[in-house]
Amino acid sequence: MMLRRWMAAGLVAVATAGVLNAVPAAAERPYDPTAQSLRALGQRHGLYVGTAVDMAALADPAEPRYREIVRDEFSTVTAENVMKWESLEPTRGSYDWSAADELVATARRNGQKVRGHVLVWHSQLPKWLTDGVADGSIDNTELRSILRRHITTVASRYRGKIWQWDVVNEAVSDPWDTPSTLHYKGFWAEHLGPGYVADAFRWARAADPTALLFYNDYNIEAFGSGDPANDKTQFVYDMVKGLLARGVPVDGVGSQGHLGTQYGNYDTLQVADALHRFAGLGLSTAFTEVDVRSRLTDGVQAGDSEEINPRLQASAANFHVLLQACLAEPRCLSFTVWGFTDRHSWVPGTFDDPPQGLATIYDENYQPKRAYQVMKADLIYAGPPYVRMRATPKPRR
Ligand code: G3I
Repeated sequence: MMLRRWMAAGLVAVATAGVLNAVPAAAERPYDPTAQSLRALGQRHGLYVGTAVDMAALADPAEPRYREIVRDEFSTVTAENVMKWESLEPTRGSYDWSAADELVATARRNGQKVRGHVLVWHSQLPKWLTDGVADGSIDNTELRSILRRHITTVASRYRGKIWQWDVVNEAVSDPWDTPSTLHYKGFWAEHLGPGYVADAFRWARAADPTALLFYNDYNIEAFGSGDPANDKTQFVYDMVKGLLARGVPVDGVGSQGHLGTQYGNYDTLQVADALHRFAGLGLSTAFTEVDVRSRLTDGVQAGDSEEINPRLQASAANFHVLLQACLAEPRCLSFTVWGFTDRHSWVPGTFDDPPQGLATIYDENYQPKRAYQVMKADLIYAGPPYVRMRATPKPRR
């Protein structure tokens, strides 16, 4: 009897201990910000955190993790390729909207905003267009009306569904181009002159009164000499200031943020300064295509951690610089990475001699890298007085 009582008492003790040690129910678990997604933590600041989406990977049944991370970690998405002219109008006059529509529908299902990329760019143009101009069957007058029709057609189709449009992308040359003095570059400037930039914004606004209209470019993370002849950020600053002075409806400037750990890059104060100065023009800003690549030395390719670790840490440090600067400027509305996994990144296919990679925030097996953790910490620990809620600008008329 006594024994049975002891055993019963013992069982109760174990049960009680069990209960005491049992994991508290969700409601009881203390809030753990480190368990939150980038999108949830971004919302603490009103900041949209985004990724470029490879629609082939999104549709691939063998890639469930890709779809889950796109859905769970990001509050804005950008089409990596399917909203580009060569994809939308491969044959003159007949549009293929399927993949672009699927991206917009996916974003709607996931409660995400869409950054439209890209209405006017000198690359990934349909062959019928570049061939027509090259063989003279399309003259500049017709080319201008073709451009107007394209912008009007695309922006009208997605009216009210696009948060930010990259209206014009990469219109400005680089110091290593010829001539080295900075100038308007590329197919559109060569055939229509720099005036096409203002036209493009006016046509986009006429087609969609709701979207924020952005000029997007790379290597404009910080000011340099301040001389627009060789400082691309200054050239872009002067360009958008001039457009605004002429009443052109530019709402923002997108800084792509394609960096490499082999370069000097910038500190947070330099980048924040640039964002503040664009804000001083009444413009919004966004980081639109962030990745930080590294040389894939023999040691890196051989899996030598002493070669790999410094590059992963340097990559993370540069993600930190751009995100911390963005947080410090309330008119910096969004922070988009150009692909989130090394499994689907444009870098190795483009930078193959010498080989480069390791550019994103998840590795090839969808494991978060140091860069992901650093972004998460930035979003958790940032706050007043220097980090405030995002502005909510209205589209310029
Ligand atoms: O669609 C064809 C496919 O049919 C063909 O089988 C395959 C093999 O060559 O090529 C596919 O086209 C590729 C396309 O991506 C779609 O995947 C092109 O070769 C390839 O050059 C293209 O690369 C894209 C690049 O822009 C083109 O300039 C990258 O994915 C994309 O990440 C990159 O994105 C740009 C931004 O739009 C603007 N800023 C710079 C950024 C990086 O270059």
